[in-house]
Amino acid sequence: MRKAPGSNLTRRRYDRIAPFYDLLEALVERLRFASWRARLWSRIVGNRALEVGVGTGKNIPYYPRDVRITAVDISPRMLERAQKRASVLGLEVELLEMDVQHLAFPNHVFDTIVSTFVFCSVPNPVLGLQELRRVCKPSGKLLLLEHIRPSNRLLGFLFDMLNPLVVRVVGANINRRTMENIRRAGWRIRVEDRLSSDIVRWIEAEP
Ligand SMILES: C[S@@+](CC[C@H](N)C(=O)[O-])C[C@H]1O[C@@H](n2cnc3c(N)ncnc32)[C@H](O)[C@@H]1O
Repeated sequence: MRKAPGSNLTRRRYDRIAPFYDLLEALVERLRFASWRARLWSRIVGNRALEVGVGTGKNIPYYPRDVRITAVDISPRMLERAQKRASVLGLEVELLEMDVQHLAFPNHVFDTIVSTFVFCSVPNPVLGLQELRRVCKPSGKLLLLEHIRPSNRLLGFLFDMLNPLVVRVVGANINRRTMENIRRAGWRIRVEDRLSSDIVRWIEAEP
């Protein structure tokens, strides 16, 4: 598997956190994320989809049954949990260990690409988003849930200060300028909704 610089560290961090990941997010999952995930997966188009950064497979229960879905992640321990979740649900999901910054897919194969809370931890998010654009069909779309750096100056500064600690402990950067990164990767943003204050965004984009 080809990996970009920094990916080994990301993999190690998520391998380490995998046994606790669902527990850490249990409350917010119940209160917020679950309904957002259900809504996001109801928006997919076409019959071939890619999920990047599948993690422990929290989106798997919402996968439409009539769409062929391939899911990738850089962390084998997270993928093991996703595999268990798929088995419990009796679903066949193609789960692959892969770096989103170097996807082993040909150009223009997927109708929809979905990713939730991933580009905060990808070492080079613009490179990853460019890869997604490469493998997306010209008529396809990108659906994302992402937490981003707050636009409030004081909060933004606070998040910058806290980021080195947070990224060490949980592997996620809390000060990513993801909207800018999506545009820099060449995507055209069609929908941008603020889901939770200023920080969590629902994003729909076209190549
Ligand atoms: C915060 S978790 C989110 C997991 C899942 N999408 C969810 O909504 O619960 C971030 C996931 O992205 C994966 N990831 C981080 N960098 C990656 C990369 N370069 N390529 C593929 N997966 C990556 C991590 O291993 C982790 O499973």
